Amino acid sequence: MADLLLSVGRPLESVPESYIRPASQRPNLAAVEIDGNIPIVDLGSPDKSLIVAQVGQACQSYGLFQVVNHGISAELIQQMRAIGNEFFHLPAEEKLRLYSDDPAKKVRLSTSFNVKKETVHNWRDYLRLHCHPLEEYLAVWPSKPLAFRDVVSKYCTEVRRLGFYLLDFISLSLGLEQDYIKEVLGEQEQHMAINYYPPCPEPELTYGLPSHTDPNALTILLQDPQVAGLQVLRAGKWIAVSPHPNAFVINIGDQLQALSNGKYKSVWHRAVVNSEKERLSVASFLCPCNSSVIAPAKQLIAEDSPAIYRSYTYDEYYKKFWARNLDQEHCLELFR
Ligand code: SIN
Ligand code: FE2
Repeated sequence: MADLLLSVGRPLESVPESYIRPASQRPNLAAVEIDGNIPIVDLGSPDKSLIVAQVGQACQSYGLFQVVNHGISAELIQQMRAIGNEFFHLPAEEKLRLYSDDPAKKVRLSTSFNVKKETVHNWRDYLRLHCHPLEEYLAVWPSKPLAFRDVVSKYCTEVRRLGFYLLDFISLSLGLEQDYIKEVLGEQEQHMAINYYPPCPEPELTYGLPSHTDPNALTILLQDPQVAGLQVLRAGKWIAVSPHPNAFVINIGDQLQALSNGKYKSVWHRAVVNSEKERLSVASFLCPCNSSVIAPAKQLIAEDSPAIYRSYTYDEYYKKFWARNLDQEHCLELFR
């Protein structure tokens, strides 16, 4: 399976059969709307109630927004991107030592999405890491590039702080206590995927990642500053999320859709590839702890708005998510 890695060996001149989507499932890049007015929330605003209102509006109507003035330095962001790029340009032997197709592994370099299960592969290699508590994982993270552990651990700590800060605003925007969501999610796990999408000779035939929703609570995504690729579905139309320098893309995951009783959307999104340039993105996932019990918040339930999801543990949810294919119906549909 390791021979599937795209970032090892010579670039391919055409897309192998195993990556080609049936005609009806291809990205149709010409139909994508380029600037869909994705909301940008300025977290530096002194008006906290304005931030609450903007976050609530964005979660409800898009399920996705960008944040600026988020407190993570441009220097650290630059270092994170540089180390991610350096990692994917390491010599093949170095990378192959980390290869695994077992989704349960806590540190692994892999490709596509779930190579063991899927019928069509995706044009993506990725390094997936568990990141919390850092002390538990640091020693098993890649030791090359030399600055990897230092830079990535700083980055993860900052992203966690930002994620928690945003969860406070999200709770308030639902009319809940500021700590409500953090308390329900418990001692949150944190995972990271550093995604590398090499140039693709025929981008119309395949995906970096096909349409999916994120199974976790909140995703904090660092996009490539120059190369677009992330798209979101809104009112039946795919919209490209234009890279915004040093902003993070925040997207609501399935668990916040459940907690908000469907008020906030765990948005369908996908990554497309292009024939010219490689693209790097860094996704950080805040996840409930496995034993957390997720259910629509009682405060959001009334006679005229009954709970639309049953309660379940995150462990149960996550197992169901991985047992399916990525681009099937919304996994939450199984929990109604
Ligand atoms: C993701 O959905 O996890 C990655 C999207 C991207 O690469 O922009
Ligand atoms: Fe995603």
